[in-house]
Amino acid sequence: MLRCSCSGVFWLLVAANGASLNTTDIYENLYANHGYHADLRLSHASSILHLLQSVAGAFDRPVLDVGCSHGLAVEKLWKMDISAIGVDIAPTAVQKARTHREFRHSLCGEFPCFQVGTATTLPFPDKSLDAIFSTDVLEHLLPEEAPAMVTEFLRVTRKMLFLKIATTTEINKQPINALKMSNRTRYQELQALHTTVWPISKWASLFATKHRRLSVFSSGDTLAIWI
Ligand SMILES: *[C@@H]1O[C@H](CO)[C@@H](O)[C@H](O)[C@H]1NC(C)=O
Ligand SMILES: *[C@@H]1O[C@H](CO)[C@@H](O)[C@H](O)[C@H]1NC(C)=O
Repeated sequence: MLRCSCSGVFWLLVAANGASLNTTDIYENLYANHGYHADLRLSHASSILHLLQSVAGAFDRPVLDVGCSHGLAVEKLWKMDISAIGVDIAPTAVQKARTHREFRHSLCGEFPCFQVGTATTLPFPDKSLDAIFSTDVLEHLLPEEAPAMVTEFLRVTRKMLFLKIATTTEINKQPINALKMSNRTRYQELQALHTTVWPISKWASLFATKHRRLSVFSSGDTLAIWI
């Protein structure tokens, strides 16, 4: 913990880089109280699901959806007979997935089909999964969390990563406005839900420079990484 006698200035700096924001609290509050991702039929994963389907023959361990929300993408993979599981930072999102999805327990490997987990602390042993995918999630990390996410994704995965990442701030301001209305003090420092807005090339180089043997490809807003 850093200490400083110039407390006013110091805390302003902490606020400016987002370090005092509690991401779990933000998304749990959105899911539990503000109708976040309330439409259980909506998923932005279809382009990535097609990519996964085309390579799934190479998998014998599950594919993980990081930021799985109410679990629709995982359920779609089960319907293609692909072994898949999900984690989400918000307990209410995980509960929705458990309540609403048609389970295929045999396609979850030795893991819970859905559980709480974050991109920087994945509850899985080293190299226990074949692939990770993630759709419109990593832009919600704080910038200082991004290097730890890269290390964590590569720790648990053996073969591939498919990551769709928004590269602009969110258009729909309704969720952040609802949060701010609910408690102005608590969410004062939150400027947008897309807390890390980087070009896809910057995400690509974060993976490429941290681990030199990876093959990193980007197209539009999607990264495909072979380990
Ligand atoms: C963040 O919020 C969660 C959920 O409200 C809470 O359980 C946790 O203790 C908070 N973490 C910190 C560091 O305040
Ligand atoms: C608003 O958030 C602050 C900080 O988390 C908390 O102490 C306070 O009780 C909250 N106010 C209400 C009305 O929930």
